[in-house]
Amino acid sequence: MKTVTSTRAMQRSAEELRRAGKRIALVPTMGYLHEGHQSLIRAARARADVVIVSVFVNPLQFGPGEDYSTYPRDMARDEKLAASAGADIVFAPPPDEMYRKGHRASVLVEGLSDVLEGRSRPGHFRGVATVVAKLFNITKPHVAVFGQKDAQQAAIVRRLVEDLDFDLELIVAPTVREGDGLAMSSRNVYLSVDERAQAAVLSRSLRLAEERIRAGERDLEAIRTEMSALIAAEPAARIDYISIADPATLQDLTALEPGEMVLVSLAVRIGRTRLIDNTTVKA
Ligand code: PAJ
Repeated sequence: MKTVTSTRAMQRSAEELRRAGKRIALVPTMGYLHEGHQSLIRAARARADVVIVSVFVNPLQFGPGEDYSTYPRDMARDEKLAASAGADIVFAPPPDEMYRKGHRASVLVEGLSDVLEGRSRPGHFRGVATVVAKLFNITKPHVAVFGQKDAQQAAIVRRLVEDLDFDLELIVAPTVREGDGLAMSSRNVYLSVDERAQAAVLSRSLRLAEERIRAGERDLEAIRTEMSALIAAEPAARIDYISIADPATLQDLTALEPGEMVLVSLAVRIGRTRLIDNTTVKA
C-alpha cells in the first residue's frame, strides 16, 4: 500500500489506473479509522481493482467552536488499518494542498443541507459537499462508498452525484455497531467510561422507535415522546433533535403511509460529546 499526499500526483495516478482499465473505488474518511470505516473499505475492495482511502480532516465542514483542532488523528495507525482492510492507496493531503491560496469555489446541495444536522451545524454540509466533489475529481472513482451512519450526508452525496452528473456508482453501507448497539465513531474516544455506558441509549431509543412503527403506531409525536423519555433517563444526555423523516428529502413527516420507508434520526449530547445515529424502518 502507498500513501499519496499531493493532489496532482493523485490525479496522475488515477488517470493512469483508468487508462490501464482499472476500476477505482474511493472511501472518503477523516481518519482515526475504526471497524465502521474498515467495513466500507471491504465493501470497496469487493467492487473494484484499486481501493483508495482518503484521510483528510476537512476544515471546511467544522464550525467555529467545533472540534477541528482536537479531532483525533493518527496517520500511522490509519495506514495499518486501511491496509489490513484491503486499501491500495491512502490519499492524505495536507490542508493547504486541498485548499490552496485563493480558494473560493464551493458546492451547496440546497434544501437538504439546512435541516437536521444542518440546523445545528450551519455550513457543515457545504463543507462536506465541497470536499467530496473535490475528492471525486482528484481520485476519479468508478465507485464511492459511504456509511449509513451519516444518513443525511449519504442523502446529500446522492443528490450531489445525481445533480452534478458525477459518473460513478454510489454505495451506502450499513452502520457497524459495538456490542451494546453504540454506532462506531471516531468521536467515541471523547467519552468517559460512564458516558460511554450512557451513550448506548441512542441505539436503544432507535430500536424502540422501530418496534413502535413496526407494531403499527401512527402517532409520530407519541414515538418521539417515548424516545425522549428513554434518553432523558440518562443523566449525561441532552437531546439536540429527534426526527422521523422522508429518507430522500429529509423533511419531517406528519403522518405515516403503510409500506413507506422512514428515517428515524437523532443527535444527542452525552456530556460534551455530540453523537448522531439513525435507522430506516418500513411503516
Ligand atoms: P468520517 O466521519 O471519518 O466517516 C467516513 C465514512 O465512514 C462516512 O461515509 C461515514 O458514514 C462512515 N462511517 C462512520 N462510522 C461508521 C459506522 N459505524 N459504520 C459504517 N460506516 C461508518 O463522514 C466523514 O468522515 C466526512 O464527512 C467525509 C465524508 C470524509 C467528508 O469529509
